[in-house]
Amino acid sequence: MRSLRSGLSPASLLTGAATLVTLGALLVAAPAAQAADTPLRDLAAAKGKAIGTAVTGSKLTGTYGDIAGAQFNWLTPGNAMKWETVEPSRGTYNWAEADQIVAFAQAHNQQVRGHTLVWHSQNPGWLANGTWTPAELSTLLQDHISTEVTRYKGRLAAWDVVNEPFNEDGTYRSTLWYNGLGADYIAQALTWARAADPSAKLYINDYNVEGVNAKSTALYNLVKSLKERGVPIDGVGLQAHLILGQVPATFQQNIQRFADLGVDVAITELDIRMQLPSTEAKLTQQAADYKAVLDACVAVARCTGVTVWGFTDSDSWIPDVFTGYGAATPYDENYVPKPAYYAIATALGGTTTPPTGACSATYSVASQWNTGFTGQVRIACSGAALSAWRVSWSFGAGQQITQAWNATCAQTGAAVSCVNASYNGTVPNGGSVTFGFNAAWSGSNPVPVVTVG
Ligand code: G3I
Repeated sequence: MRSLRSGLSPASLLTGAATLVTLGALLVAAPAAQAADTPLRDLAAAKGKAIGTAVTGSKLTGTYGDIAGAQFNWLTPGNAMKWETVEPSRGTYNWAEADQIVAFAQAHNQQVRGHTLVWHSQNPGWLANGTWTPAELSTLLQDHISTEVTRYKGRLAAWDVVNEPFNEDGTYRSTLWYNGLGADYIAQALTWARAADPSAKLYINDYNVEGVNAKSTALYNLVKSLKERGVPIDGVGLQAHLILGQVPATFQQNIQRFADLGVDVAITELDIRMQLPSTEAKLTQQAADYKAVLDACVAVARCTGVTVWGFTDSDSWIPDVFTGYGAATPYDENYVPKPAYYAIATALGGTTTPPTGACSATYSVASQWNTGFTGQVRIACSGAALSAWRVSWSFGAGQQITQAWNATCAQTGAAVSCVNASYNGTVPNGGSVTFGFNAAWSGSNPVPVVTVG
């Protein structure tokens, strides 16, 4: 079993009670961040495929950064390269997060997918609410594309140049760009992007175009006509924001028809959402769905790879937008790999099976006063289940448990061991159990590393 490096050291956390409360969960998440023997990126590379994730720049430290760097060979900035982020007021640029992600990728030998240059959403207010003549709009768009693509020239492997240009019925979406410039804004954007960086692969990216349907056929016809006209177009991005159990039956056939047109296909934003709470049955179905998507990409030579839209359920857009839905990514909120993770590994030729110990304990200080504190430990399982549990840690600064609830705890010297109560030994796959305790402390109250077993 290969443990991911953790950027967190216990000593670095001993900075005061307030931060302990916040950071406790992060610290003990690290030992649980164990995954397949071979990282996904190595499995993917052996098949000549990309395995990517969307990332948030501010989170690229600690366990999040460790997993992003170790498991993936492509990164997509989730929001950092969008127009509202890079030019929030006209002529004032903010490249901080985009630069940070590109630097992280270079340091980890990863490719970057730029996302996105022309979209109807996440545009700055000054642009979206302005009144523009077609000539002004055209100049604004050309300047934007030239400025951003030139900034990262030679450093990005691909760009989602145009994002989501179609309605579900295959007609063009009514947007600032379409309404002002007509459908040819797409050809112009691609041409300007190619001029700014001839080495980046240029894509049109959309959702609900994974199977053969009216929208994907409109995309197909557009790409065909762009190629016939000699407009630079290298690939299509199929976002793949899917629903549990609903991978389109024509997924591979659809990928193949684009490949046959002479363009690459990338799965650019894969997530598979389910109605919460997650259950073992839903996680098993999700794993099958992830595998079906990966299998379809692996089966078509021109499918360059798969990017997940966030690798952990703690960094996913789904719960914010689809009320009651979530658990859409391959790692749970505590960075424990889910069955979907192992399904990806399997589809990429890995031989791993979920470890029996895919349960982790998260220790946190719920409240603290001058002589005592209330602690909480949450045991969560993903890809495994427990019928009884024991949780252990060592108190590093003389803390002493005085009382526990929902567990029986014993302390000998620094060593603490807590076992389940009669009624909460079962932790189902995808479920969790929490117990609490009061303890005395003085001097300092460092957060211990907790193990389940
Ligand atoms: O940064 C602000 C923060 O300061 C503020 O406190 C917070 C309050 O709501 O909002 C934060 O901004 C959010 C931003 O994500 C960063 O987290 C926006 O509200 C939120 O709308 C925005 O959502 C993004 C969404 O695009 C917007 O449509 C998601 O993160 C991003 O993952 C998502 O990505 C899109 C792809 O670009 C295109 N395909 C669909 C996909 C999912 O919508």
